[in-house]
Amino acid sequence: MVLMNRQIQVHEEVTGAEVEREQAVRIRARDVRKTYSSQRGGEVVALDGVSLDIKAGQMAVLLGPSGCGKTTLLRSIAGLEQPQGGDIEIDGTLVYSASRKTWIPPERRQLSMVFQSYALWPHMTVFENVAFPLRSRRTPKDRIRGKVLHVLEAVGLSGYEQRHPSQLSGGQQQRVALARAIVADVGVVLFDEPLSNVDAKVREQVRNEIVALQSTFGFAGLYVTHDQVEAGALAEVLVVMDHGRIEQTGRPQELYDAPASRYVANFMGTISEISGSVSGINASGVVTLQTALGPISGTASASLAVGSEVVAAFRPERALLSYDEPGDTANVWRCAVKHKMFMGSYMEVLLDIMFGDERCGATVTAPRGSGFREGSEAWIHVPVESMLVLNP
Ligand SMILES: Nc1ncnc2c1ncn2[C@@H]1O[C@H](COP(=O)(O)OP(=O)(O)OP(=O)(O)O)[C@@H](O)[C@H]1O
Ligand SMILES: [Mg+2]
Repeated sequence: MVLMNRQIQVHEEVTGAEVEREQAVRIRARDVRKTYSSQRGGEVVALDGVSLDIKAGQMAVLLGPSGCGKTTLLRSIAGLEQPQGGDIEIDGTLVYSASRKTWIPPERRQLSMVFQSYALWPHMTVFENVAFPLRSRRTPKDRIRGKVLHVLEAVGLSGYEQRHPSQLSGGQQQRVALARAIVADVGVVLFDEPLSNVDAKVREQVRNEIVALQSTFGFAGLYVTHDQVEAGALAEVLVVMDHGRIEQTGRPQELYDAPASRYVANFMGTISEISGSVSGINASGVVTLQTALGPISGTASASLAVGSEVVAAFRPERALLSYDEPGDTANVWRCAVKHKMFMGSYMEVLLDIMFGDERCGATVTAPRGSGFREGSEAWIHVPVESMLVLNP
């Protein structure tokens, strides 16, 4: 009985510690602002009030078009760039605050960064490159060797200690950079498009290694990529940026299924759109629109006013295509099958939705072998819960 109680107590302690670890915020940014002066004398607002929290052990992926401020955000967190406004905390330590005039230099911030360009020291061996952060943190000499060999093994580079970076492939160089980033047991690792210089096959391997390294070493990560697949594979949380602002933060599925805006909807994948204006909203939240394709019913994640201009949109796999006329329900149209593409495990079908003289292009997916013929006419049905109503 006593033993059982002890076991329960131990279990509770472990769970409590896990909860605490889960909740500890590793990176906290509040209203961070950064403006560059351009060569023509004007100003470029790179960060326009960015706030985010990244928790222990969490991998957040930052997505957004070129020039939206991703690198500036990473460099501001790392201390390689000084913002003009806001606060940044790493592991509970204030490293930058405009109002409190706080500035901790990069070498004293408990984080490391992996760059697209590897940034290895060419005159140092693999061993020396990886040992560098430990030496600059004055780790006792007898512990350095063991730690370096341990992380080199974790990234699959045992036996490469005495080579120089020029004697390694791109993928191997990036693994050295990864080893160097995690060797000092920092709680935070920042990644700026680390895999965009390596070819597709290696990219997939190293990406999977990053996932494994994160679960072994437990660091929090902020990871910039342009690659949707990489983002989906790595992200526990996705952060979509536009023009120096965060548009939406959430789990990848949330951003895909319930985007907060048309911008996020398009950024997360293929979507077919029809513009219209809100004609009614019923008690259960179903929104009716007037459009060139007649009335459309859908669901909205933001609150909308009657009369406002909106866009109805649906994902390719949420539309139902058939030669049989669907029953009496909303969002059903005749359509012309224009082109179909073999995508491996499914078919992608480009079609024109028809309504009177109106034509509206759309993309849907269909199972392999579903036999829709190019040039034929069919029916398309988009269930109300799959028709998103978005702010343009
Ligand atoms: N040192 C600088 N001087 C002036 N403007 C800069 C400087 N660095 C960045 N900018 C500008 O700030 C904005 C944000 O740049 P940033 O490098 O953060 O974009 P990004 O999202 O990382 O883009 P990419 O995907 O192309 O890497 C851009 O308009 C860029 O031109
Ligand atoms: Mg960048």
